Amino acid sequence: MINVAVIGAAGRMGRRLTANITAADDMTLTGAVEVASCPLLGQDAGTVAGVGEVGVAITDNVAAAVENADAVIDFSTGNVSATAETAIGNGAAVVIGTTALSKEQRAELEVLAGKGGRIVLASNMSVGVNLLFHLCREVAGILGEDYDIEIVEMHHNQKKDAPSGTAVTLGEAVCEGRGLDYDKAVVHGREGIVGARTRNEVGMHAVRGGDVVGDHTVIFATGGERVELTHKASSRDTFAKGALRAVRFLSSAAPGLYNMQDVLKLK
Ligand SMILES: NC(=O)c1ccc[n+]([C@@H]2O[C@H](COP(=O)([O-])OP(=O)(O)OC[C@H]3O[C@@H](n4cnc5c(N)ncnc54)[C@H](O)[C@@H]3O)[C@@H](O)[C@H]2O)c1
Repeated sequence: MINVAVIGAAGRMGRRLTANITAADDMTLTGAVEVASCPLLGQDAGTVAGVGEVGVAITDNVAAAVENADAVIDFSTGNVSATAETAIGNGAAVVIGTTALSKEQRAELEVLAGKGGRIVLASNMSVGVNLLFHLCREVAGILGEDYDIEIVEMHHNQKKDAPSGTAVTLGEAVCEGRGLDYDKAVVHGREGIVGARTRNEVGMHAVRGGDVVGDHTVIFATGGERVELTHKASSRDTFAKGALRAVRFLSSAAPGLYNMQDVLKLK
Protein backbone atom coordinates (compact mmCIF):
# COMPACT_ATOMS: atom_id res chain seq x y z
CA MET A 1 0.00 0.00 0.00
CA ILE A 2 1.20 3.52 -0.80
CA ASN A 3 0.26 6.05 1.88
CA VAL A 4 -0.70 9.35 0.28
CA ALA A 5 -1.33 12.84 1.68
CA VAL A 6 -3.23 15.48 -0.33
CA ILE A 7 -2.43 19.19 -0.09
CA GLY A 8 -5.33 21.48 -1.00
CA ALA A 9 -7.76 18.74 0.08
CA ALA A 10 -10.90 20.89 0.06
CA GLY A 11 -10.26 22.29 -3.42
CA ARG A 12 -11.88 21.06 -6.65
CA MET A 13 -8.86 18.91 -7.50
CA GLY A 14 -8.20 17.92 -3.87
CA ARG A 15 -11.66 16.38 -3.60
CA ARG A 16 -11.21 14.35 -6.80
CA LEU A 17 -7.76 13.22 -5.62
CA THR A 18 -9.27 11.99 -2.34
CA ALA A 19 -12.00 10.16 -4.26
CA ASN A 20 -9.53 8.50 -6.64
CA ILE A 21 -7.04 7.55 -3.89
CA THR A 22 -9.89 6.01 -1.88
CA ALA A 23 -11.00 4.01 -4.94
CA ALA A 24 -7.46 2.79 -5.75
CA ASP A 25 -6.55 -0.74 -4.58
CA ASP A 26 -2.90 0.15 -3.94
CA MET A 27 -3.27 3.48 -2.08
CA THR A 28 -4.49 4.76 1.28
CA LEU A 29 -5.20 8.39 2.15
CA THR A 30 -3.23 9.20 5.30
CA GLY A 31 -3.23 13.00 5.32
CA ALA A 32 -5.27 15.95 4.05
CA VAL A 33 -4.06 19.56 4.30
CA GLU A 34 -5.80 22.89 3.87
CA VAL A 35 -5.15 26.53 4.77
CA ALA A 36 -5.80 27.68 8.35
CA SER A 37 -8.75 29.80 7.13
CA CYS A 38 -10.50 26.84 5.44
CA PRO A 39 -13.99 26.39 6.98
CA LEU A 40 -13.73 22.62 6.42
CA LEU A 41 -10.73 22.18 8.77
CA GLY A 42 -11.34 19.24 11.12
CA GLN A 43 -13.87 17.60 8.81
CA ASP A 44 -13.29 14.16 7.31
CA ALA A 45 -11.59 14.43 3.89
CA GLY A 46 -13.69 11.61 2.43
CA THR A 47 -16.93 13.26 3.54
CA VAL A 48 -15.78 16.55 2.02
CA ALA A 49 -14.98 14.70 -1.22
CA GLY A 50 -18.42 13.05 -1.21
CA VAL A 51 -17.12 9.47 -0.92
CA GLY A 52 -17.97 8.75 2.73
CA GLU A 53 -15.78 8.81 5.83
CA VAL A 54 -12.14 7.76 5.40
CA GLY A 55 -10.93 8.55 8.93
CA VAL A 56 -8.62 11.40 7.89
CA ALA A 57 -9.43 14.85 9.24
CA ILE A 58 -8.43 17.90 7.17
CA THR A 59 -5.67 19.79 9.01
CA ASP A 60 -3.50 22.86 8.48
CA ASN A 61 -0.50 21.04 10.01
CA VAL A 62 1.60 19.93 7.02
CA ALA A 63 4.28 18.19 9.11
CA ALA A 64 1.71 16.03 10.92
CA ALA A 65 -0.22 15.23 7.74
CA VAL A 66 2.83 14.02 5.79
CA GLU A 67 4.36 12.10 8.71
CA ASN A 68 3.16 8.66 7.54
CA ALA A 69 3.05 9.48 3.83
CA ASP A 70 5.04 7.68 1.13
CA ALA A 71 3.83 10.29 -1.34
CA VAL A 72 2.35 13.77 -1.17
CA ILE A 73 0.12 15.14 -3.96
CA ASP A 74 -0.08 18.93 -4.05
CA PHE A 75 -2.76 20.61 -6.16
CA SER A 76 -3.05 23.56 -3.78
CA THR A 77 -2.63 27.20 -4.59
CA GLY A 78 -0.07 27.54 -1.77
CA ASN A 79 3.72 27.55 -1.54
CA VAL A 80 4.45 24.19 -3.12
CA SER A 81 8.23 24.27 -2.62
CA ALA A 82 7.90 24.80 1.16
CA THR A 83 5.45 21.89 1.38
CA ALA A 84 7.71 19.76 -0.84
CA GLU A 85 10.67 20.47 1.44
CA THR A 86 8.72 19.23 4.47
CA ALA A 87 7.49 16.14 2.60
CA ILE A 88 10.91 15.25 1.16
CA GLY A 89 12.54 15.80 4.56
CA ASN A 90 10.13 13.13 5.76
CA GLY A 91 11.18 10.71 2.98
CA ALA A 92 8.05 11.14 0.86
CA ALA A 93 7.87 11.49 -2.93
CA VAL A 94 6.06 14.60 -4.19
CA VAL A 95 3.65 15.07 -7.11
CA ILE A 96 2.87 18.70 -7.90
CA GLY A 97 0.00 19.71 -10.17
CA THR A 98 -0.20 23.34 -9.06
CA THR A 99 0.21 25.66 -12.05
CA ALA A 100 1.74 29.11 -12.55
CA LEU A 101 4.76 28.44 -10.32
CA SER A 102 7.31 31.25 -10.13
CA LYS A 103 10.83 30.75 -11.50
CA GLU A 104 12.06 30.82 -7.90
CA GLN A 105 9.71 27.99 -6.90
CA ARG A 106 10.87 25.86 -9.84
CA ALA A 107 14.48 26.54 -8.93
CA GLU A 108 13.77 25.51 -5.32
CA LEU A 109 12.25 22.25 -6.56
CA GLU A 110 15.35 21.57 -8.66
CA VAL A 111 17.51 22.11 -5.58
CA LEU A 112 15.32 19.70 -3.58
CA ALA A 113 15.60 17.08 -6.35
CA GLY A 114 19.37 17.60 -6.36
CA LYS A 115 19.41 16.81 -2.65
CA GLY A 116 17.66 13.47 -3.16
CA GLY A 117 14.01 14.48 -3.57
CA ARG A 118 11.73 12.54 -5.92
CA ILE A 119 9.37 14.99 -7.62
CA VAL A 120 6.94 14.96 -10.55
CA LEU A 121 5.89 18.43 -11.68
CA ALA A 122 3.36 18.83 -14.52
CA SER A 123 0.90 21.59 -15.34
CA ASN A 124 -1.33 19.02 -17.07
CA MET A 125 -1.41 15.54 -15.49
CA SER A 126 -3.87 14.05 -17.98
CA VAL A 127 -2.44 10.88 -19.49
CA GLY A 128 -4.29 11.50 -22.76
CA VAL A 129 -3.08 15.09 -23.08
CA ASN A 130 0.51 14.06 -22.40
CA LEU A 131 0.22 11.38 -25.08
CA LEU A 132 -1.16 14.09 -27.40
CA PHE A 133 1.91 16.29 -26.72
CA HIS A 134 4.13 13.40 -27.77
CA LEU A 135 2.08 12.46 -30.84
CA CYS A 136 1.86 16.06 -32.06
CA ARG A 137 5.64 16.48 -31.88
CA GLU A 138 6.12 13.24 -33.81
CA VAL A 139 3.36 13.86 -36.38
CA ALA A 140 4.54 17.43 -37.09
CA GLY A 141 8.02 16.10 -37.84
CA ILE A 142 6.80 13.18 -39.97
CA LEU A 143 4.29 15.18 -42.07
CA GLY A 144 6.67 18.10 -42.56
CA GLU A 145 6.15 21.53 -44.06
CA ASP A 146 3.55 20.50 -46.65
CA TYR A 147 1.00 20.29 -43.85
CA ASP A 148 -0.55 23.44 -42.36
CA ILE A 149 -0.91 23.19 -38.58
CA GLU A 150 -3.80 24.78 -36.71
CA ILE A 151 -4.70 24.35 -33.02
CA VAL A 152 -8.26 24.80 -31.78
CA GLU A 153 -9.15 24.68 -28.08
CA MET A 154 -12.53 25.02 -26.37
CA HIS A 155 -13.20 25.65 -22.68
CA HIS A 156 -16.11 26.68 -20.44
CA ASN A 157 -17.32 30.26 -20.40
CA GLN A 158 -15.65 31.06 -17.03
CA LYS A 159 -12.07 30.45 -18.18
CA LYS A 160 -10.02 33.59 -17.71
CA ASP A 161 -6.91 32.95 -19.84
CA ALA A 162 -6.54 32.24 -23.55
CA PRO A 163 -5.17 30.24 -25.20
CA SER A 164 -5.09 27.47 -22.59
CA GLY A 165 -1.74 26.41 -21.13
CA THR A 166 -2.29 23.03 -22.76
CA ALA A 167 -2.79 24.64 -26.19
CA VAL A 168 0.46 26.55 -25.70
CA THR A 169 2.29 23.31 -24.87
CA LEU A 170 0.74 21.69 -27.96
CA GLY A 171 2.01 24.64 -29.98
CA GLU A 172 5.47 24.18 -28.52
CA ALA A 173 5.32 20.46 -29.36
CA VAL A 174 4.41 20.97 -33.04
CA CYS A 175 6.99 23.75 -33.37
CA GLU A 176 9.65 21.46 -31.93
CA GLY A 177 8.60 18.69 -34.33
CA ARG A 178 8.71 21.04 -37.33
CA GLY A 179 11.79 22.96 -36.22
CA LEU A 180 9.89 26.27 -35.87
CA ASP A 181 10.35 29.09 -33.38
CA TYR A 182 7.09 29.22 -31.33
CA ASP A 183 7.18 33.00 -30.81
CA LYS A 184 7.55 33.65 -34.56
CA ALA A 185 5.30 30.85 -35.85
CA VAL A 186 2.15 31.11 -33.74
CA VAL A 187 -0.66 33.33 -35.10
CA HIS A 188 -3.51 33.96 -32.65
CA GLY A 189 -6.88 34.00 -34.45
CA ARG A 190 -7.27 35.80 -37.76
CA GLU A 191 -9.29 38.85 -38.69
CA GLY A 192 -9.56 41.07 -41.73
CA ILE A 193 -7.44 40.88 -44.89
CA VAL A 194 -4.61 38.84 -43.43
CA GLY A 195 -3.49 37.39 -46.76
CA ALA A 196 -2.81 33.77 -47.62
CA ARG A 197 -1.54 31.50 -44.93
CA THR A 198 2.22 31.06 -44.87
CA ARG A 199 3.82 27.63 -44.58
CA ASN A 200 5.61 28.31 -41.35
CA GLU A 201 2.74 29.57 -39.26
CA VAL A 202 0.78 27.70 -36.60
CA GLY A 203 -2.77 29.01 -36.11
CA MET A 204 -4.05 29.17 -32.53
CA HIS A 205 -7.77 29.53 -31.83
CA ALA A 206 -9.60 29.77 -28.49
CA VAL A 207 -13.35 29.00 -28.35
CA ARG A 208 -15.35 29.66 -25.17
CA GLY A 209 -18.79 28.43 -24.14
CA GLY A 210 -20.93 26.42 -21.75
CA ASP A 211 -19.33 24.00 -19.31
CA VAL A 212 -16.69 22.38 -21.55
CA VAL A 213 -13.90 20.99 -19.30
CA GLY A 214 -11.30 21.17 -22.08
CA ASP A 215 -11.18 20.15 -25.78
CA HIS A 216 -8.02 20.41 -27.88
CA THR A 217 -7.67 19.59 -31.58
CA VAL A 218 -4.50 19.85 -33.63
CA ILE A 219 -5.16 19.92 -37.40
CA PHE A 220 -2.53 18.97 -39.97
CA ALA A 221 -3.95 19.91 -43.39
CA THR A 222 -2.53 19.57 -46.89
CA GLY A 223 -3.89 19.30 -50.44
CA GLY A 224 -6.05 16.16 -50.54
CA GLU A 225 -6.25 15.27 -46.86
CA ARG A 226 -6.06 16.37 -43.28
CA VAL A 227 -5.14 14.63 -40.05
CA GLU A 228 -6.82 15.78 -36.82
CA LEU A 229 -5.68 14.74 -33.35
CA THR A 230 -8.27 15.49 -30.65
CA HIS A 231 -8.39 15.16 -26.88
CA LYS A 232 -11.57 15.83 -24.88
CA ALA A 233 -11.55 16.01 -21.09
CA SER A 234 -14.92 15.30 -19.52
CA SER A 235 -14.02 15.63 -15.83
CA ARG A 236 -11.18 16.54 -13.44
CA ASP A 237 -10.68 12.82 -12.81
CA THR A 238 -8.36 12.74 -15.81
CA PHE A 239 -5.88 14.94 -13.87
CA ALA A 240 -6.35 12.97 -10.62
CA LYS A 241 -5.74 9.63 -12.35
CA GLY A 242 -2.59 11.03 -13.95
CA ALA A 243 -1.38 12.19 -10.52
CA LEU A 244 -1.90 8.68 -9.16
CA ARG A 245 0.18 7.26 -12.03
CA ALA A 246 2.90 9.75 -11.11
CA VAL A 247 2.81 8.50 -7.49
CA ARG A 248 3.24 4.90 -8.69
CA PHE A 249 6.12 5.98 -10.98
CA LEU A 250 7.92 7.74 -8.11
CA SER A 251 7.60 4.75 -5.79
CA SER A 252 10.48 3.11 -7.71
CA ALA A 253 12.18 6.15 -9.28
CA ALA A 254 15.64 7.54 -8.53
CA PRO A 255 15.83 11.05 -7.06
CA GLY A 256 15.09 13.74 -9.64
CA LEU A 257 12.64 16.30 -10.99
CA TYR A 258 10.38 14.55 -13.53
CA ASN A 259 7.39 15.43 -15.70
CA MET A 260 4.53 13.38 -17.15
CA GLN A 261 6.53 12.53 -20.30
CA ASP A 262 8.91 10.69 -17.92
CA VAL A 263 6.04 9.03 -16.06
CA LEU A 264 4.56 7.74 -19.32
CA LYS A 265 8.00 6.85 -20.74
CA LEU A 266 7.37 9.05 -23.78
CA LYS A 267 10.85 10.59 -23.88
N1 LIG B 1 -1.67 19.71 -13.26
C1 LIG B 1 -2.93 19.51 -13.62
O1 LIG B 1 -3.25 18.58 -14.36
C2 LIG B 1 -3.99 20.42 -13.07
C3 LIG B 1 -5.34 20.16 -13.32
C4 LIG B 1 -6.28 20.99 -12.70
C5 LIG B 1 -5.88 22.04 -11.89
N2 LIG B 1 -4.55 22.26 -11.70
C6 LIG B 1 -4.04 23.30 -10.79
O2 LIG B 1 -4.21 22.83 -9.47
C7 LIG B 1 -4.39 23.94 -8.59
C8 LIG B 1 -5.68 23.79 -7.81
O3 LIG B 1 -6.76 23.80 -8.71
P1 LIG B 1 -8.26 23.70 -8.14
O4 LIG B 1 -9.15 23.88 -9.30
O5 LIG B 1 -8.42 22.49 -7.29
O6 LIG B 1 -8.30 25.02 -7.22
P2 LIG B 1 -9.15 25.28 -5.92
O7 LIG B 1 -9.05 26.75 -5.68
O8 LIG B 1 -10.50 24.65 -6.03
O9 LIG B 1 -8.35 24.49 -4.77
C9 LIG B 1 -7.12 24.89 -4.26
C10 LIG B 1 -7.14 24.58 -2.77
O10 LIG B 1 -5.81 24.78 -2.24
C11 LIG B 1 -5.98 25.30 -0.93
N3 LIG B 1 -4.73 25.91 -0.49
C12 LIG B 1 -4.21 27.12 -0.81
N4 LIG B 1 -3.03 27.30 -0.18
C13 LIG B 1 -2.79 26.18 0.54
C14 LIG B 1 -1.75 25.76 1.39
N5 LIG B 1 -0.69 26.53 1.63
N6 LIG B 1 -1.84 24.55 1.97
C15 LIG B 1 -2.91 23.75 1.75
N7 LIG B 1 -3.94 24.08 0.94
C16 LIG B 1 -3.88 25.28 0.34
C17 LIG B 1 -7.13 26.30 -1.08
O11 LIG B 1 -7.70 26.62 0.18
C18 LIG B 1 -8.08 25.51 -1.98
O12 LIG B 1 -9.00 24.72 -1.25
C19 LIG B 1 -4.35 25.18 -9.49
O13 LIG B 1 -3.03 25.66 -9.53
C20 LIG B 1 -4.74 24.61 -10.84
O14 LIG B 1 -4.31 25.41 -11.92
C21 LIG B 1 -3.61 21.48 -12.27
